[in-house]
Amino acid sequence: MVKIMAREKGPYLVEVDGQVKAALCRCGHSSNKPFCDGTHKKVGFQVQPHVVAL
Ligand code: FES
Repeated sequence: MVKIMAREKGPYLVEVDGQVKAALCRCGHSSNKPFCDGTHKKVGFQVQPHVVAL
């Protein structure tokens, strides 16, 4: 099963069979797009968490 979870104030986490396989930037400030590099913390990115089941 593949799940994409939006972390509160952070990236999308892509899970495959319960294991995180990738963290994808959704703040738009990563210097390693499409992956999160932690910059969301510096820019104060804030959104509400949600889960999308595929
Ligand atoms: S979400 Fe982490 S750098 Fe954009």
